[in-house]
Amino acid sequence: MQPIDEIRVRLDGDMQKLESLVAAPGAVAGAPANEGEGAKALSRQFEELKVRYLGKKGDISGLLRVMGTLAPEARPEYGKLVNELRDIAEARFAALQAKIQEAEIADSVSGSTLDATLPGYRVPLGSLHPMTQVREEIISFFQGLGFELALAPEVDNDWYNFEALNIPPDHPSRDMHDTFYVDDKVVLRTHTSNVQVHYMETHQDQPIRIIAPGFVYRVDNDATHSPMFQQVECLVVDKDISFANLKGTLFLWARHMFGTETTMRFRPSYFPFTEPSAEMDVSCYFCKGQGCRTCKQTGWIEIGGCGSVDPNVFGKVGWDPEKYTGFAFGFGIDRITMLKYGIPDISHLTRNDNRFLRQF
Ligand code: PHE
Repeated sequence: MQPIDEIRVRLDGDMQKLESLVAAPGAVAGAPANEGEGAKALSRQFEELKVRYLGKKGDISGLLRVMGTLAPEARPEYGKLVNELRDIAEARFAALQAKIQEAEIADSVSGSTLDATLPGYRVPLGSLHPMTQVREEIISFFQGLGFELALAPEVDNDWYNFEALNIPPDHPSRDMHDTFYVDDKVVLRTHTSNVQVHYMETHQDQPIRIIAPGFVYRVDNDATHSPMFQQVECLVVDKDISFANLKGTLFLWARHMFGTETTMRFRPSYFPFTEPSAEMDVSCYFCKGQGCRTCKQTGWIEIGGCGSVDPNVFGKVGWDPEKYTGFAFGFGIDRITMLKYGIPDISHLTRNDNRFLRQF
């Protein structure tokens, strides 16, 4: 047999063997236990065979290399035959490669329990906790007005939580705060007002405009009270700050938070660190002031405490109360969240029940 024919026959045999291997069910991916092994072995065989026939030092190139030894008149015919053989080989290898790829895909689908025709799994997207959303909304509103974000420790000295806020030991107003004591002098802060003291101590004699969210703690636990909850504190200090500035700021905020129809009222109140002090109410978000269950038929919803900074507080932190005045307020974020979304029980906010959280 001529070398060309010999190689053509051998190529045909080799290819048929490999083609039937590829066609065998499961040949490509192999048994599930050694997943992929079959595929690797087959593509290794495929590459070896391809190199043997079509590589630079392969059989077909070898045929061309001996062309110089042939009689010149025999060369064109010989060249044509070798080229034909190369075309045949290339086409068969390309077809086989496509088959291997196809089989790999088919096998990876049928070899596993995967049914590619089933609808996919939905990957649920989470969302921010409703309290986080409300907190972020409050912060970004005040940042928009030029307020700076400030923070203070949750475990703090008595001085910051009480004394510097004009609440001396044995002051009756300490009863308003059911305090968790760490020891005689250290408490879990009962409100975010400690941020006022920290900030004024470290930013002496300069205008202040801060918004300070954070966790606070009180010995309290029922449908509307949790021992750990969140407040947001605001403090503004400058020359000539008045109660009117407090009202204007809060009015803007209330309308932003609860809608442009919101009205508000201030009820006289008492806090040792503000004078005068007030509780701020907004018209009920749900019934627009008509009276409903959420507002206990009053038409009003209590948002939090506020007032003008008491001169005694300025004195405690070493500021001149003749030079500066200010206002402050402190609101419960949990409370605002419950009102905004009509959540009846505060424990929903910390129970992490997906059926609840998914609604936000
Ligand atoms: N700290 C007060 C409270 O927790 C709220 C408050 C803050 C009142 C600032 C006046 C000024 O009840």
